[in-house]
Amino acid sequence: MEDALQNDAIDAQRALKAKRMKVFITFAAGMAGLLFGLDIGVISGALPFITTHFELSSRLQEWVVSTMMLGAALGAISTGWISFRLGRKTSLTAGAALFIIGSLGSSLAPNVPILLVSRVLLGFAVGIASYVAPLYLSEMSEKEDRGKLISMYQMMVTIGILVAFISDTIFSYGGHWRMMLGIISLPALLLMISVFGLPDSPRWLASKGKFDKAKEILRMLNTTDAKADSELNEIHESLKVKQEGWSLFKENKNVRRAVYLGMLLQAMQQFTGMNVILYYAPQIFKHAGFANTEQQMIATVICGVTNALATIIAMKTVDKQGRKPVLKIGFAGIAIGTFLLGVCLYMINAGFSALWISIFAILMTLFTIASFAMSAGPVVWILCSEIQPLKSRDFGVACSTTTNWIVNMIIGATFLTLINTFGIAVTFWIYTGMNILFVILTVLLIPETKGISLENIEKNLMDGKRLRDIGV
Ligand code: BGC
Repeated sequence: MEDALQNDAIDAQRALKAKRMKVFITFAAGMAGLLFGLDIGVISGALPFITTHFELSSRLQEWVVSTMMLGAALGAISTGWISFRLGRKTSLTAGAALFIIGSLGSSLAPNVPILLVSRVLLGFAVGIASYVAPLYLSEMSEKEDRGKLISMYQMMVTIGILVAFISDTIFSYGGHWRMMLGIISLPALLLMISVFGLPDSPRWLASKGKFDKAKEILRMLNTTDAKADSELNEIHESLKVKQEGWSLFKENKNVRRAVYLGMLLQAMQQFTGMNVILYYAPQIFKHAGFANTEQQMIATVICGVTNALATIIAMKTVDKQGRKPVLKIGFAGIAIGTFLLGVCLYMINAGFSALWISIFAILMTLFTIASFAMSAGPVVWILCSEIQPLKSRDFGVACSTTTNWIVNMIIGATFLTLINTFGIAVTFWIYTGMNILFVILTVLLIPETKGISLENIEKNLMDGKRLRDIGV
């Protein structure tokens, strides 16, 4: 009797320790997400002041914005290798250090070349963070709450974007663009400190043959030894395929299918047009009839709030309703939102200027943002970290994350040209068409991975099952 009580107490203590560790892991990986969001969000507010300070041409303005995405694409692709060789923890530490250097460098830049180099370094850090953090989280979590944890990471991305919008608004009163860019070094420092306390991923350790260490960490994360040992066994099984990244990609058709699926998912996420709305929100509101800068800034902050709040819906639904239904509803929502937004803008441009049309245009913008945030925003990152086989996971996730940044850059660089060529309404209708296509692609190609262990997904993929069935 006494023994039983003592055992219960030990179990409770262990469960509490495992829970605390998980909270810390989520916090640290969440900091990486926060920085990702801060860096995406900060530039729109800082750019007008940087332009005046350095008397930038429009070409140079585009460079100031896009060097970050270029750096991110480079960061994501090279981190595949770094994180495979040195582990997730070391990569995150390197990312945090670059965040600090990049944000201080761009904030103190005495001239444009130093600003551009700092933006590439900062982008490199964002590329590392956007690559390693979801991968690390998917490897550290139990299958039942993997979706929730990665949505939590996405939630931090959206909070980062929102905080950047708010901080830009505050600093914009004095035109303090250096403060806007420099303040990001503080959360970067916090990330650096917290990463030191993180354990390395047991899946990565096992892939390097360090089974004892992997077992130790799994036992720390699980409530019972039996659970930890069974997870280690599953990892052991999935490691029997003895090949790696690029060579596996060249030789194995199933690995190629997973890599292409990941790239397609990220391209779909970006071609929804979400970032166009985020980057150009003030211009969209101007077209909708809100001419005053203050109104536009407030509307932009409301976009940021909607983005963050709607991500909570994803956190609550992905592990219960599953990835696929959420994704279908999301793409359908974005299609409806962009279509109706286009209709409003068409009417305004044609000379119908009623207040209700402008308000409806704003509501449709928010509806589009919410549809993305509750679906493709988090779900694409979740799926991309789940579908790659362990031996080529680093390579696969590097390819999909790099695709995210390259398409992000294409979207940002083509939006204004599309508007000038086709007009703003037709531009949004092009995105409507894309999102309808994505509903169909989701039905045909995307697997449901809710509640399935990573090892099972891998087995189904390697057995040659159809992509949409690898999660069943
Ligand atoms: C996307 C970013 C986007 C952000 C918006 C992320 O999932 O990858 O491109 O800016 O969501 O919240």
